Amino acid sequence: MAAAAELAFPDGFLWGVATSAYQIEGAVDEDGRGPSIWDTLSRVPGAIRSGHTGDVAVDHYHRYQADVALMARLGLQACRFSVAWPRVLPQGSGAVNDAGLDFYRRLVDELLAADIEPMLTLYHWDLPQVLQDVGGWPERDTAQRFAEYAAVVFDALHDRVPRWITLNEPWCSSLLGYAEGSHAPGIRDPRQATRAIHHLLLAHGLAVQAMRAIDPSRDVGITLNLQPIRSAAADPGAVLQDGIRRMDGLRNRVWTEPVFRARYPDDVARDLELFGGLPVRNGDLEVIAQPTDLLGVNYYADEILAHRPGASIAHTPGLVDVGSVDPGPGATDMGWPLTPHGLRDLLVTLHATYPDLPPVFITENGVAYDDPLDDGAVHDTRRMRYLDTHLRALRAAIDEAVDVRGYLHWSLMDNFEWSHGYHMRFGLVHVDLETQQRTPRDSAWWYRDVIARNGLGAAAG
Ligand code: FCB
Repeated sequence: MAAAAELAFPDGFLWGVATSAYQIEGAVDEDGRGPSIWDTLSRVPGAIRSGHTGDVAVDHYHRYQADVALMARLGLQACRFSVAWPRVLPQGSGAVNDAGLDFYRRLVDELLAADIEPMLTLYHWDLPQVLQDVGGWPERDTAQRFAEYAAVVFDALHDRVPRWITLNEPWCSSLLGYAEGSHAPGIRDPRQATRAIHHLLLAHGLAVQAMRAIDPSRDVGITLNLQPIRSAAADPGAVLQDGIRRMDGLRNRVWTEPVFRARYPDDVARDLELFGGLPVRNGDLEVIAQPTDLLGVNYYADEILAHRPGASIAHTPGLVDVGSVDPGPGATDMGWPLTPHGLRDLLVTLHATYPDLPPVFITENGVAYDDPLDDGAVHDTRRMRYLDTHLRALRAAIDEAVDVRGYLHWSLMDNFEWSHGYHMRFGLVHVDLETQQRTPRDSAWWYRDVIARNGLGAAAG
C-alpha cells in the first residue's frame, strides 16, 4: 500500500493510459482488414520520417494479451484504445468483417478480466481508403457512413464498454489532413479542410444519435485537442491579435461552439467564407449539439505566437504574418514548450465559458523524450517531471470547480508517431522496435504509485 497522497485526487478518479489502433496494432493485412488512409500516406515517399509505416507497429494485434498483463502490473484502471474502422468495415460501409470486430471483443474481454476499464474511441484517424477514394471527410456522405460504423461497433460492445468517444481530435483530421497535408490523406486544400470540419462534427452528432438509439445508458462524447493560444509579446499589436483570434477559432471555438451551443462562431464562419464556407444545412447544428455525457480533452502544450512578417502556418488558413515561437533548448523532442499551467488555464476557461459542460476526462497528455535504455531500465526523470507538473495543474483546475473525472496518459508504450514515424517516444513503456521487447520506464512505476495512492507524493525529480 502506497503512502497517503500529499495531493489527493477526488475519490473514484479514473487513472489510465491512451493508445490508438494504427499506432500500435500492426497486422495491417490480417483477418480481412482493408487499407486506411494512413496505409496509403505511409507509402508516399517523403511523407513519413525514414519511410516508417504502421505495418508492424508494436505488434499489439498479436501481443495484446501480454500488453494487458503489463497494464495490470502497472496498476492501470483504464485503457483508452481505438477501433480501426477498416478492420470492421473493410469497404467503409456495408459488409461487417466479423474477424476484425472479434479482435476488439477479445481485447475488451482481456481488459475486463484484468479489471481495467475499456474506453473506446471510434475514430483515431484511420479512415478506410475506399471512403477517401470517393472524397473522404469533405464529402457529407462520410458522416453518414461513420454513424453506420459507430452503430456496428456499439451494437457489438456496448454491453461491455461503459464510455465511448466518437472522434479523436477532429482538428487534426481536418486541418492537418486536408489543409497542412502533414497527416493522411496528405491534401493541401483549405477548401476541403473547411468542408471536413463540418462533416466531422456532423459525423459526431449522427454517431451519438445512432448509439443512443441502441442503448442510451452508455456515456458518449468527443475528444478535442484544445489549446491556449498565447502571445509571445506583452503587447501583441493588431496583426498578432488577429492571428491569435484565428488560431483560437480553428483550434478551439469551431469545435466547442457547435458541440455545446449549436452554433459556429461568427468570426470563424466569416473567415472560412474565403475557402468556400462551412457546408451547413438546416438542422445540422442541432444534430451536432446532441447532449453528451463526457468531454475528452487532449492537452500537450500551449501554442505561443509572435508577429513574423511573411510567415504563415499551413494548418491555419488565412493566418498571415504570424509564426510559432521556437521554445529553444527547454523543448520536448517534439519541439513543444513545457507549459503545465496551460492545462489548468484551459480547463478553468472552458468551465467558465460552458457552465453546463459535461464531466471532463483528460484523454491524452504526455511527452516525447528518448532517454536511453540502460541495463533493463530507463531513467526518464524528465517524463516524471512532466507528469508531476501536469497532474498538479490538473488538480488546481479541479480545485477551481472543474469536474474532471479521469486522466489517460499518452501513451502506454512507444508507437508510430504519425509523420514522425517511430522517432518520437511517448511511452511509459519503452519498446525495442527490433525485438518488440517492452521495458517499463521509471515513469511507469512512478505512475503506478500515483494511481495506488490516488494522488501525488512529494514533487518529482
Ligand atoms: C495526439 C494524437 C495521438 C498522439 C499524440 C502525441 O495529437 O491524438 O495519437 O500522436 O498526439
